[in-house]
Amino acid sequence: MEDRPIASDHSPPLPFLTMRAALLLLLVITSLLCLARAQNQALMDYLEQRLLAIENRISTWHEQTNRYAHELREFKQQMVGLLENQDKDREFMRTELSGVGTRVDRMEREMDYLETQNGAQPCVDVDEKLVEQEVTVVKEKNKAKYSKLTECRDMISSIKAMKILKRVGAPKGMWTKDTGSSSARVYIFNGTSEDTLYEFSSVRDFTASSGLSRGKAIQLPHPWGGTGHTIYNGYAYYVREGDEFQVIKYDLRNGSVVDSVVFPARDHVPVYSLTPETYIDLAADEEGLWAIYATRENENSICLAKVDPVTLDIVQMWDTPCPRENAEAAFVICGTVYVVYNTQLASRSRVQCVFDVSDMVTNDDAPLVYFPKRYGAHSSLKYNPLEQLIYAWDDGYQILYKLAMKKKLEV
Ligand SMILES: *[C@@H]1O[C@H](CO)[C@@H](O)[C@H](O)[C@H]1NC(C)=O
Ligand SMILES: *[C@@H]1O[C@H](CO)[C@@H](O)[C@H](O)[C@H]1NC(C)=O
Repeated sequence: MEDRPIASDHSPPLPFLTMRAALLLLLVITSLLCLARAQNQALMDYLEQRLLAIENRISTWHEQTNRYAHELREFKQQMVGLLENQDKDREFMRTELSGVGTRVDRMEREMDYLETQNGAQPCVDVDEKLVEQEVTVVKEKNKAKYSKLTECRDMISSIKAMKILKRVGAPKGMWTKDTGSSSARVYIFNGTSEDTLYEFSSVRDFTASSGLSRGKAIQLPHPWGGTGHTIYNGYAYYVREGDEFQVIKYDLRNGSVVDSVVFPARDHVPVYSLTPETYIDLAADEEGLWAIYATRENENSICLAKVDPVTLDIVQMWDTPCPRENAEAAFVICGTVYVVYNTQLASRSRVQCVFDVSDMVTNDDAPLVYFPKRYGAHSSLKYNPLEQLIYAWDDGYQILYKLAMKKKLEV
């Protein structure tokens, strides 16, 4: 103690103070350290918690993924199973259907056979009195002898073949070749009240066209009504829509109306009960132009008129014994009108009534001609005398029927 250079007397409290300060400092540092450690710990805890949470989440996610994968696998298996079953069902249906098809075919053949055996009576039931009345009317009106313009003596014997060419669309309509010339052009009247017909250079051109796109659109000055139009010698003869029953002769070469007449019969009624849009049906054959129509005056039967294609005059008129009821269309061959019948729920079309203006063919001579299976009902049947083909419109389809002919007097 003595060797302390500075008198210790003067400064006895100094070391003590220093000690206290050091202690204090230590205390401060320690508590600071403690604090820091505590903070560190909190941070560590926090981080650990976060990590745990993330780990938890990852494991949940993993589980879920596994579950999803599993469910997906199960779902896939189920689908494969279902698809297999469906394939089996489809196969089953197909065999069932083809079985039904053969049975229907067989039934149709049997029905055809029965029909030929029983020679189904022509011209549906009409009560006796009515027939008598009609016969007298027919006799009176038909008194004038029809003088044939041609030597043609053909009558239909059967339908040799059919060809389905196309489906233009409208359920009802009409198509035909130019029936009075050797032109190959065909004309399409799609629908029963339109004003644009389509001209194709040939049947082949029509078949190759997608829809009517390749055709030449010809807009008529008035919309047509029904399916009773015809093309004859470069002219369209069409029935104008409306209640005037006007027949218009339209020149297809220069696009002008040449002539028009109001059909000289009053109180028209639809000529075929199954095609109620058609009041007048114009038909062409070897003899020229005809009109098939019906009036309220004699509303059970169909009437026939010979029309002069140049002047549109009516040359002669007949009441036929053929009923309108269940008729769908008709056509004329060599002066004989063939009326085609069907049923309300379309079944097989058949010629079941004929009327010959030259009295050479009677219903008894006429074979009962059945049309091959078709889609619905014919809304038009247009005969072409040069090819002996019928251009038919059946539920939107364009069909050609090739006819086999025989001579009228051969029995
Ligand atoms: C024919 O007419 C029907 C209905 O009017 C229509 O749906 C169809 O598209 C027409 N066809 C064509 C090729 O224009
Ligand atoms: C169209 O041709 C006919 C002959 O078929 C003729 O009478 C008529 O005047 C012609 N019309 C026009 C607008 O050229």
